[in-house]
Amino acid sequence: MTKIFVTRQFPGTAIEKLSKQKGFEVSVYKKDQIIPRKELLKRVKGADIILSLLTDRIDAQVMDAAGDQLKMIANYAVGFDNIDIEEAKRRKIRVINTPCDQSTESVAEHAIAMIFGLAHRLIEADNFTRAKKYKGWDPGLMLGSGLSGKTIGVIGAGRIGYSISKRLYDGFGVKIIYNDIKRNTKYEKDFKAKLRTKTQLLKEADIVTLHVPLLKATHHLISTKELKAMKKTAFLINTSRGPVVDETELIKALKNGDIAGAGLDVYECEPKIDCNPRDKFELRKMPNVILTPHTASATIEARDAMGQIALKNILAFTNNKRLPNKIA
Ligand code: DGY
Repeated sequence: MTKIFVTRQFPGTAIEKLSKQKGFEVSVYKKDQIIPRKELLKRVKGADIILSLLTDRIDAQVMDAAGDQLKMIANYAVGFDNIDIEEAKRRKIRVINTPCDQSTESVAEHAIAMIFGLAHRLIEADNFTRAKKYKGWDPGLMLGSGLSGKTIGVIGAGRIGYSISKRLYDGFGVKIIYNDIKRNTKYEKDFKAKLRTKTQLLKEADIVTLHVPLLKATHHLISTKELKAMKKTAFLINTSRGPVVDETELIKALKNGDIAGAGLDVYECEPKIDCNPRDKFELRKMPNVILTPHTASATIEARDAMGQIALKNILAFTNNKRLPNKIA
């Protein structure tokens, strides 16, 4: 019997399918909340496989609490910075993540929605109208900025960066520049994209969008110097991981007018919105900032597909087949 512990119920049919598999004993943390640490340590005991969420810190303590039989961690997310990968490797525990077209598209659409929301000041305009402040057409009211012919700087030209670029290049005539650890000739060919150093990209781009994993090397990838390098009219979009941006410095840059606005789906001390106690509620008060609660991949299609990928990997693992999404 393979014991699988699922740290939280998620949408779609994957958990049900998993439960129906012969030889699997599946238990799910049923409360609709992030599993408390104490409960996690208790419930993983005896599990062969943990199906975790990005909100669960899966470290040596959890692996110890599970026991020596723990063989696999399937992370229901693309990012896996919540897992101590080195520790898993040391213990020969397999780790997989769940990238899929549906979540790629969802995050790309969300980032684009933020770009449009900022450029056309949609949230501000909606608040303004609801507050009954609209007194008649005014040629100078809520002036935004057009996108056509503008330059987007994509930091991380992987799947999501590609998907955003395709939509903006094909649909809106946006120019593409990018920065990545390696050159991507297909990306350059498909979108006439130009490779730039990070600093050059920040100087040139009207919109900077971040699509990098959270690693030591990407922690505070955007901080004081980078924000100062950006155009005063530029927007910063972060749908990757909160700590990629130095949030305190971002708040300062927004206050000083160093950049024009930001679209944030992730936060440095998630789920807290303002990390630094002195900056409390600052982001929430800013009209030129769009804040969403880490929902960039929250489409029905993406959530189900992520579950199916976890299922596929678990079945591959238990059938001694190659793991399609092996991280470790
Ligand atoms: C991911 O997959 O890493 C997203 O941040 C949440 O779906």
